Amino acid sequence: MAIDLSTLPPRKGTRPTTTGKEIPHDQLEQFSPPEIRAALVAYAETLPGVATGPSLVSEPGSFALRLGRAERPFDAFLHPEVDEFGHIHRSGFLHLTVPREYVRVLDELGWTEPHPITRRAEFPDTIVMLYAPRDAEELAVATAVLRASYEQAVGDMPVRMRAVTVDAFGETPTATAVDVPVPGPGELLVRVAASSLNGFDQAVVHGVFRDMMEHTFPVTLGKDFAGTVVAVGDGVERPLGARVFGVVMKPAVHDGAFADFVVVSDGYGVAAIPDGVDFADAGALGLAGAAAVGVVEAVAPAAGDTVLVVGATGGVGAYAVQLAATAGATVVATAAPGAQADFVRALGAAHVVDASGDLAAQVRAIAPAGVSAAIHLAGDPQALVDLVAPGGRLASTLGVGPEAADGRDVTVVPVMADPSAATLDRLAAAVASGALRVPVQSVHHLEDVAAAMAGFAAGTLGKVGVSVS
Ligand SMILES: NC(=O)c1ccc[n+]([C@@H]2O[C@H](COP(=O)([O-])OP(=O)(O)OC[C@H]3O[C@@H](n4cnc5c(N)ncnc54)[C@H](OP(=O)(O)O)[C@@H]3O)[C@@H](O)[C@H]2O)c1
Repeated sequence: MAIDLSTLPPRKGTRPTTTGKEIPHDQLEQFSPPEIRAALVAYAETLPGVATGPSLVSEPGSFALRLGRAERPFDAFLHPEVDEFGHIHRSGFLHLTVPREYVRVLDELGWTEPHPITRRAEFPDTIVMLYAPRDAEELAVATAVLRASYEQAVGDMPVRMRAVTVDAFGETPTATAVDVPVPGPGELLVRVAASSLNGFDQAVVHGVFRDMMEHTFPVTLGKDFAGTVVAVGDGVERPLGARVFGVVMKPAVHDGAFADFVVVSDGYGVAAIPDGVDFADAGALGLAGAAAVGVVEAVAPAAGDTVLVVGATGGVGAYAVQLAATAGATVVATAAPGAQADFVRALGAAHVVDASGDLAAQVRAIAPAGVSAAIHLAGDPQALVDLVAPGGRLASTLGVGPEAADGRDVTVVPVMADPSAATLDRLAAAVASGALRVPVQSVHHLEDVAAAMAGFAAGTLGKVGVSVS
């Protein structure tokens, strides 16, 4: 039963003796029976958004309660620089910040005493030592105080958020509510403003990577992100409020950017959004842009080269066409007549070929000796090898490797997108200068992403954006 802190009973018996020193751990042995402390810890772990682990402000054997968001009042935390609002000592003794109105009453009723550290000006004066609960009745009081401390720390920040998730492979993605993630060391919590769809999201749903990467369900979808840093983990120097974009690159599949917030590493897959680039464009740039940089670098086009881009109408293709054309190559792009052909021409394609017709004949008509290079983003790779001139190059995002050359004098390179900060910076600078266009053709709100993914699988032109905020 929930306890009302304003009508608490007095604590029975005498107060435990504390040393009055700032960290009286030597006096705190065996206050709570193990099952009572375990129940207290179990309760703490049910609080939405709370991250637990070794204390950052006390001895590491203490069980820390952290919120991982620094944009809340310092009064709510134990230390000016740490997002820990409380911790449970091995003895069951708690150190907590509590709402100011309870500081005196808790002390007068014998449940707490002010933590000596509150004498220091740089610490909040609302830190109390809550005596270790000894039985179920005292546990109820301790959990009520813990709850009040948690609510103060949370303030008006959400601890739950909207997210598009799947609970198992093959499920239809749904808009749901999950806990706001907490950034660990070296990580950023980003309030997402925009994202975009990628084939990767669909592949995750269908379990394509189940043998390659660990999946922790529910999986939140969404690789691309653009937004604002609202909290940082230990060791991060990037300031709060920084505008960032990139690709969610985690060893396990769990976090995603089709959500109000996403936690990403500060070290890889993230870069600052330069002035002049908006969230919508930055949110559709990361994965497809990095993949396009990878394939274009792999074929290294130069003036005088003819580069065939197959799958030119998609997200990666739309960037690859532009990058190859900017490098001085004559770009031959696949597209159906009409809107698709207009689209790739506007991006810099000099010639358009229709992949639903006789691709080889159309390409030979443009480059009788074969193209200098081919970029393979869709369709049959073998047919493309035959269209590349001897000594030429073929780069593929679909895992096609040297074996596809089949003895011919063509260098075949499989490309994995590498969204390093340097590549992301380069892409963003190109967008800022007007040299690279972000080909967003439609934008969907977070709630409509699941339906948009179904449409994306059926074919799309350019990038499909996601608007989150
Ligand atoms: N290796 C990596 O790191 C990496 C990174 C990013 C992407 N990828 C992969 O690279 C591929 C392209 O990515 P994306 O984001 O650009 O996908 P996308 O937006 O779905 O684009 C694919 C495009 O290819 C077109 N297409 C389909 N079949 C074709 C064919 N036989 N001939 C010519 N064009 C055809 C599609 O046109 P319609 O819509 O008209 O069918 C669509 O415009 C995907 O398979 C994706 O999974 C890999």
